[in-house]
Amino acid sequence: MSISASSPSLADALAATAATVEGELDRLLGLTDGPERRLHEAMRYATLGGGKRLRPFLVMQSAVLFNVSPAAALRVACAVEMVHCYSLIHDDLPCMDDDDLRRGRPTCHKAFDEATALLAGDALLTRAFEVLVLPLTHPDPTVRCELVWELAHASGGQGMVGGQMVDLQAAALSMDVAAISRLQQMKTGRLFAFACEAGAILGKAAQQLRQALRGYSHDMGLAFQIADDLLDVEGDADEVGKRVGKDDAAGKATFVSLLGIERARAQAAMLVDQACNHLEPFGDKAELLREAARYVVARRR
Ligand code: IPE
Ligand code: IPE
Ligand code: MG
Ligand code: MG
Ligand code: MG
Repeated sequence: MSISASSPSLADALAATAATVEGELDRLLGLTDGPERRLHEAMRYATLGGGKRLRPFLVMQSAVLFNVSPAAALRVACAVEMVHCYSLIHDDLPCMDDDDLRRGRPTCHKAFDEATALLAGDALLTRAFEVLVLPLTHPDPTVRCELVWELAHASGGQGMVGGQMVDLQAAALSMDVAAISRLQQMKTGRLFAFACEAGAILGKAAQQLRQALRGYSHDMGLAFQIADDLLDVEGDADEVGKRVGKDDAAGKATFVSLLGIERARAQAAMLVDQACNHLEPFGDKAELLREAARYVVARRR
């Protein structure tokens, strides 16, 4: 899949990570011959062959900062992508956003059926934790335990799932910018934050450096979600790979509905600058992370 990032080095690095992650996910999500085979086919359908693989990229790049073994980081990258893909399957279900297009293809429940899609999401979530806890991920059980804790916390009721709950009510609640920021931070930001901190956890980095990555991910994650909301208003479904105009049709408050297109874009640009400033302690080693922050707001899909 071609990735049109403004910087050739970032485009190459994103493409290389996507290819490596694809191979590892293929290996980790095997098929079986039993009657449960349909479940595994649905898991593979929703996970392989698409997506920008941004969260895995952030894991791999944060690992570079702390000289972590790429093989270990790859397992964490796959775990976070499994959680992300599960969240997309459930997000697209008729009881949630009721979408029929994802990554340029029919959504999982359209390609299979709703019950299978629900189960495929459940099984991807649990598979992610199976991958994290094996010693292949890290020889030190304390590190593996911390990864499990942080991913669980980022994905669950205080993170992504909690944010999805608030998002479902976003049309009914009167939300200001602070409330939307909190919602987006939970729904999208927490998983990005885990991805950015994963390298620091694997590398047993000092708290101060972890804090710097947290600052980066906070601002970059919000900028990412503003870009997602802008694409929903201005994007082209063929290019974006999912239906557009959904937030407005659902009457959902977003940064764009609250601020308007120009101010939302300016806010995203400001957040990208702030995100990059947090990376100062890492010098040139963090250049791809800086480029990634610029890419998340410039992207067309
Ligand atoms: C889409 O995420 C869902 C949101 C959190 C807004 P991505 O834009 O990263 O989706 P893929 O993985 O590239 O398909
Ligand atoms: C979903 O947000 C974020 C998740 C946690 C899956 P959206 O509903 O805005 O994502 P898209 O636009 O369908 O990808
Ligand atoms: Mg949604
Ligand atoms: Mg959606
Ligand atoms: Mg969206």
